[in-house]
Order: sequence, then structure tokens, then C-alpha cells
Amino acid sequence: MISDSIQTALNKQIRIEAESSQIYLAMASWAELQGLEGVAQFMYTQSEEERMHMLKLFRYVNERGGHAKVSPLNGPDLEFGSFKEMFETLFNHEIFVSESINELVHLTFENKDYATHNFLQWYVAEQIEEEAQARMILDKIKLIGDNNAGLYLFDNDIKQISAAAQSKAEGL
Ligand code: FEO
Repeated sequence: MISDSIQTALNKQIRIEAESSQIYLAMASWAELQGLEGVAQFMYTQSEEERMHMLKLFRYVNERGGHAKVSPLNGPDLEFGSFKEMFETLFNHEIFVSESINELVHLTFENKDYATHNFLQWYVAEQIEEEAQARMILDKIKLIGDNNAGLYLFDNDIKQISAAAQSKAEGL
């Protein structure tokens, strides 16, 4: 059985993961309208992954005798000034998610809830990967600058990153 404070914190994280899924879905749509198919595909995959992060928490809360709640979500930005700006938003959002997971892990220690602490280790590892991936993409975009040919190649490149992420998500 989980305590009320852990349940509240896990439900907050469920909302954050659901909002992450919506944020990346909005990015997928914007990228698709700009004609960058690879970036759009990457964002659709990211959006699915975030939904999976949300569901994993959701099921855990109910499994432990709590009540997983569906909360109203904040709407994401729908427009981005540039691809660089969009990926900066993604990177900063992942840092925010990592901080939220860290606080959650800290709370499980304070509450001596070692089962939830153990469960959350998967998210700790996942955030290291997601931050590293976002940083790598952002570095590539900084190198490209305003070069359209570079952006075309990047779009192709990111298709491969997306395909790798997709097979990882299917393996979960
Ligand atoms: Fe589920 Fe990208 O944080």
C-alpha cells in the first residue's frame, strides 16, 4: 500500500508525463507542417514513449492499492519560431522532468517507501538517456545553423534515431 503523500506525488508525475506526450505531439504536428518528415516522426515516437511512461506509473499506483488519477492537462505550445527553438524547448522540458523524478525519489526515501524507490530507478535511467539524446540533437542543430542542405540531412538522420527509439519502446 502506498501512502497518501506518495500517491499524490505519483499522480502529479502521471500528469507531467501525460503533458509531455501532448507537448511532443504538438511538436510533431508543427514539424509535419514545415515538411520535415523525419523530425515529425521522431516527435510522434517521443509522444508515444511519454504516454508509455505515464501508463507505467498509472498501473503501478493501482497495483499498490492507490488510485491513479486522470487530471486535466495544461495545453502545450502549438507554434515554434524555429527547429532550434523547438528542440531547446524539448531539452529544457526533459531537464524539468528529471528534476521532478529526483524530487519523487527523494520523497520515497523520506517516506521509507523502498518499493516505489526501486520502481522509480527505471525512470532515473530513462531520464539520463532522454537528456543525452536531446543534448545530442541540439548540438547537431547548432552546427547546422541556417543551412537548408544541413537541415535536410539532419531530417534524414533523425529518422534513424526515431526508428531506434521506436524499437526500444516496442521492447518495453
Ligand atoms: Fe517521460 Fe521524457 O520524460
